[in-house]
Order: sequence, then C-alpha cells, then structure tokens
Amino acid sequence: MKLFSCFSNCFSSAPDTAIDRGGLEAEEENDQNFTVFSYSELKAATHGFSASNKIGEGAFGSVYKGLLGNGTVVAVKMLSVELESMRGEREFVSEIITLSNLKHENLVTLKGCCVDGANRFLVYNYMENNSLAQILLGGEQNRIKLGWEARRAISLGVARGLAYLHEEVEPHIVHRDIKASNILLDQNLIPKVSDFGLSRILRDNVTHISTHVAGTLGYLAPEYAISGRLTRKTDVYSFGVLLLEIISGQTVVNYDSEHGERYLVQKAWEAFRTNSILQLVDPIVGMNYPEEEAVRFVKVGLLCVQETAKLRPEMSRAVRMLTNDIDIEGVQISQPGLVDDLMNIKLGQKTTFPSISSKASSMESSRSPLSSYS
Ligand SMILES: Nc1ncnc2c1ncn2[C@@H]1O[C@H](COP(=O)(O)OP(=O)(O)OP(=O)(O)O)[C@@H](O)[C@H]1O
Ligand SMILES: [Mg+2]
Repeated sequence: MKLFSCFSNCFSSAPDTAIDRGGLEAEEENDQNFTVFSYSELKAATHGFSASNKIGEGAFGSVYKGLLGNGTVVAVKMLSVELESMRGEREFVSEIITLSNLKHENLVTLKGCCVDGANRFLVYNYMENNSLAQILLGGEQNRIKLGWEARRAISLGVARGLAYLHEEVEPHIVHRDIKASNILLDQNLIPKVSDFGLSRILRDNVTHISTHVAGTLGYLAPEYAISGRLTRKTDVYSFGVLLLEIISGQTVVNYDSEHGERYLVQKAWEAFRTNSILQLVDPIVGMNYPEEEAVRFVKVGLLCVQETAKLRPEMSRAVRMLTNDIDIEGVQISQPGLVDDLMNIKLGQKTTFPSISSKASSMESSRSPLSSYS
C-alpha cells in the first residue's frame, strides 16, 4: 500500500459540500470516511470532556469515550503535547489524514481529528474490550480469562498488523511503542494496534527516550535504548516481549520476594535452556492446549528478542513461524538482549548506558550462534 497525503483531495474539491472548521475546509466525509470534527461536536459527544467520560490517560494526553450525533461511539484523544513540538495546523491534519488511510483489520481506525486553537484531538473507533494491559495484565476486576485460542488469535493479529505497517505501507512505519496498553480489543477480542505513526508526528523534537517510556523500558530493544537506533527490528523486539506476555500472562518485569526483580525475557530464556518452556504458559489457559504450538510461540518470542537485531525475524516471517508455515524446529536460538539495569538509565540522555543482558549473558547459549533472518 502506498502511503501518501490526501490533504489536497480532502480540502480542495466540492466546495458546496465543504464545511468551515475554524479555517480548515473539509468535506464532511471523504472517500476514506475521515472527518474533521468541530470542537463543539466533540465537546457534546464527551459531555464536555467530563471526568466520567474519561477512559484513560497516556503520554500524549487524556482519552474520553464519546457518543457522536449519528450514534457512533468513539474514543477521543485530547493531545497535550507542547505546541512547539506539534506540527502546524494544516500539516497536522494532513499527517493525520495520511495515517487514517492505513486500513487493516488489526489497526485501530482513526476516524478523524479536530483542531481548535492550540488544542488538537484525535478520534478513534471505540474498542469495547479496552487494552491487553487491562484484560490480560490488569487487576482482577478487569481481567478476562483468555484461553489458548484467544491468545493465539491475539498474537497473530498483532503480528499481522505490524507486518502490514512494516512491509505493506510505503514508506514503512516503525511503531516505536509496541506494548500491552497499545493493543486494544474490540467486542470480539480482535486485537487492534493503536498509536501507530503518532510518535513520529508528535515527538520529532524530543530525544529518543522521553520520560514517558519510563514504565515501559522493558519493551525497548537494547540498541534503541542505548543509541536511539530505530529500525523495524526495534518493533520486532517489543513484539517478542509482548508475545511472551500474552503466553504467560506475566508483565515484562516481575518482583517476587524469592527472586527479587525478574524479567520475562530472562525467564523465557531460562525455560528454553532447561527444557521447561511449558511452565511459562499462563495457568489460566488450563490443561487442554496444544503444547507443541505453545512451545513454538515461546521460541518465536525468543527469536524476536535476540540481542542482535539482524537475527530477529521480519514481522511477516514471525507470522509464518507462528502459523508453522516456516518450520523453526532446529533454528538456533541464542541469548536474548535485555536492558536489565533500568534504574541506571538517565532518561533522555544518550550518554548514560544501561547494562545490557548481563544477567542473560551469564547463561551460556545452549546452541551455537545463529542463522540470520535479515
Ligand atoms: N480507541 C480506544 N477505545 C477504547 N479505549 C481506548 C482507546 N484508545 C485508548 N483507550 C484507552 O485509553 C487508555 C490511554 O490510552 P493512551 O494511548 O493515551 O495511553 P497508553 O496507551 O496507556 O500509553 P501511551 O501514551 O504510551 O500510548 C488506553 O490504555 C485505553 O485503556
Ligand atoms: Mg496508547
């Protein structure tokens, strides 16, 4: 799929159907169903951005549930990014329209946006089942008991959504922030990758690690955490961590009194080396799950978090590995990379280096070095 700005299409033609949006003229709905909303429409939809309509808050601002005049339920993200790091009004709308043209079953649909003075809003389809962070890893009251089939479908869906961004969109998009809270689920538990393309638009002027990733460093590929080197393989690493979370129901880092701080990537590597991979599978899954497939999924997770970026598979390969269209039996798996000294990272400063994989590296690879996927 070619990714190009449809700015001119959306704002120039059919003046009789154009609507004035505070200086922006847009067709109410273009071919892509993209809407430039007025502030008053969004205010009405969210009961004046009331606290009771607020459904979450992230690095870019607060998210509100809204009901549009036509009965559509939406999620409205009120961006709270400093204006200097924001694009100009028209450029912003143009970029957002371009992103809204990305259509895939496993991407959240960006329905529209709104510009009101210094305020900017994004409008998405509302996802009934919230995010993986809530239903898989959240508190008891939010959790959904996910069986193996559901986990398989979610893992594959996320992998396909990412493969689309990486390999079908031109120029390709590196997500940069793959993590459980950015995987939303619709009413049928179909996973939808959210926030794709946003960091590029909103964080251009910010150093590669901003304070907002403090809670999510465990998803960061070591080379990105250290030097800011961003490639598609950075996302593959984060996907690998996410995949291990989906299989195990455990978060990236766990604390327990016996072992102290333990990283999921480390646990998975230990389980692999000691031939006890199945112990990693979330007990909630029960006994009746395809063991061979579970082992394969963990191995794919480990391949995705290999320390050397070029040894990680491209996302389309990861998909085919998960579906067993590429046989990974006999593929060499080496120690994963791991940013395991989170406290030592001075956020936003490229001069301070976290230690990489020191715990994992003390464990020897059970097999000889690897074949390359790149
Ligand atoms: N389209 C949506 N439908 C339903 N809930 C949503 C939607 N978008 C966001 N949310 C909810 O709002 C929360 C905050 O989202 P947001 O993307 O702002 O922050 P985040 O994903 O937690 O962190 P980050 O800013 O790093 O992406 C999400 O965790 C989710 O619970
Ligand atoms: Mg998000």
